[in-house]
Amino acid sequence: MIQEAKETCFLNFLLERRMIMDMTIRPRRLRGSEVLRKMVRETRMDKSSLIYPLFVREGKNIREEIPSMPGQYRYTLDQLPYCLEELTKAGVGSVLLFGIPDVKDEVGSGAYAQDGIIQKALRLAKKEFPDLYYITDVCMCEYTSHGHCGVLCGHEVENDATLELLAKTALSHAQAGADMVAPSDMMDGHTRAIRSLLDANGYKGTPIMSYAVKYASSFYGPFRDAAGSAPSFGDRKSYQMDFHNKREGVKEALLDVEEGADLLIVKPSLAYQDMITRVAECTNIPVAAYSVSGEYSMVKAAAAKGWIDEEKIMCEMAVGAYRAGAQLYITYFAKELAACMDRGIIG
Ligand code: PBG
Repeated sequence: MIQEAKETCFLNFLLERRMIMDMTIRPRRLRGSEVLRKMVRETRMDKSSLIYPLFVREGKNIREEIPSMPGQYRYTLDQLPYCLEELTKAGVGSVLLFGIPDVKDEVGSGAYAQDGIIQKALRLAKKEFPDLYYITDVCMCEYTSHGHCGVLCGHEVENDATLELLAKTALSHAQAGADMVAPSDMMDGHTRAIRSLLDANGYKGTPIMSYAVKYASSFYGPFRDAAGSAPSFGDRKSYQMDFHNKREGVKEALLDVEEGADLLIVKPSLAYQDMITRVAECTNIPVAAYSVSGEYSMVKAAAAKGWIDEEKIMCEMAVGAYRAGAQLYITYFAKELAACMDRGIIG
């Protein structure tokens, strides 16, 4: 009884103040139809902003599925064209290449060898699919026997000695035809070291997309399976960032801009959308969000169990990254997202 009286009283209060009858601002008006919802969309995306990470390995006639990343494969060179063909058909214009060598050593020499797996892949792919845009991941961890992203001095990754090898790697990629290089090692000064060597060798026009804002994340787990690049001891916390830190991410981003980065990557994407926004706000170069292997695998696993709608979740995650401020999106779902854009589900 008392409750009822209270409610009537509140309704009268609203009516008296004309807060119901005269409500002038009704957000729902703009949600009334699909046409209208699309018209007023704040986040627009385009297939040209998608980048597909791709694993190439040594060997012949192998297209092996990565167990922890269903739907993703390691390709030998002879199989690579099929994958590039599919991407072209889907309208995905750029790839990010990762190499898996046969032999690894202490100093990761496969990373900068003239006949390294990436160098061979580039020469072949550029010839057969010259219209695709080739970005290469520049790092040592897939090539070192210990799985760390640089050369070791004892159990420490030696920053400055690693810089030389990273720069050499980037140059060898450019010489083999890379359109852009993307250092993911998190060594201090990597962008400057790479920029100087590229410039000195006539590659002034090759852009650097730096993984500047890269956190020490467990979301990379499936990738390390894929590339066999898990560190054999310790972890990557002395070079990748502590994920409690936000201002440090800004520091890394600004430093890389100063060193000459042309684009920046924030990585991972899903749990780091605040960083995408911060980096987009405090710099004036394009920001790419990398939706990493663990994000992909989580979606795949839950979808396989019938717990989530794979396509809808994939779309929502992508839009989240763009809404946060990403201009580019690196994702294992690139082909599927492109198809969703074609069908007008997102975009
Ligand atoms: C190489 C590199 C990694 C990833 C991209 N480049 C692995 C790592 O840093 O451990 C992760 C990509 C992914 O998880 O999809 N340093």
